[in-house]
Amino acid sequence: MKTKPVDPSSSEFICLAHRGASGHEPENTLLAIEKAITMGAPWIEVDVFAVEDELVVIHDERLETTTNGTGCVMKRSLAYLRSLDAGKGQKIPLLREVFDLTKGRAGVNVELKGPGTAAPVVKLIGEYRHGHPGRYDGWVLVSSFNHRELAKVRSLNPDIPIGALGFGLPPKHAKFAQDLGAVSVHTSVARVNRAFVNDAHRRGLKVFVYTVNRADDLKRMRAMGVNGVFTNFPELVLSGHHEHV
Ligand code: G3P
Ligand code: MG
Repeated sequence: MKTKPVDPSSSEFICLAHRGASGHEPENTLLAIEKAITMGAPWIEVDVFAVEDELVVIHDERLETTTNGTGCVMKRSLAYLRSLDAGKGQKIPLLREVFDLTKGRAGVNVELKGPGTAAPVVKLIGEYRHGHPGRYDGWVLVSSFNHRELAKVRSLNPDIPIGALGFGLPPKHAKFAQDLGAVSVHTSVARVNRAFVNDAHRRGLKVFVYTVNRADDLKRMRAMGVNGVFTNFPELVLSGHHEHV
């Protein structure tokens, strides 16, 4: 099934496939991303590090967790990283390959993991902008727990939508995201509450919650009025009939 990205500012409840459909295929691989699109997910979330002149798509700082390699992502050569198996024979993808694969079919939420990712991500998004007339909304959203990198994205290109990631419940709720100029605030399913959601909405921010893999949590999130969830199992959100732990 083909799908189309949904503008994150829309009122639709948004399913963001977390590291692709990572409950079904190896996380952060092109296989997991294609699977998510086939399942109908309008958004794909991926994690990136900058290595040499490229952006590589992987979550952990260390390679042992998801690949047959060893050591730290940032301390290895691009050639070495690209020689590894990230599961089912998949390579660690480049972000540009993710854009090539998803183009026009799903939006990409690029989560900046490593240092020095803001500038190359802004540059790459600029290269791909031509396929998306006029606006950035609806096909790319840059997020990070590293708010300095996010601020850098804003300063380099204020038109690129950013989402501010947080884990706990700050005393001033979603103010940090508003101060960054974000369109959305991304917070943990373990911590989010109605007061936080209401505060974010008052500030004009969407709330996207990670990582929702259980039907009871999804129900709770919908009741709380959040605007979308990250999930390893897109079918949970898209059909509402399945539960995964
Ligand atoms: O971007 C949402 C979520 O992916 C943040 O946590 O550790 O899974 O990257 P993590
Ligand atoms: Mg992530």
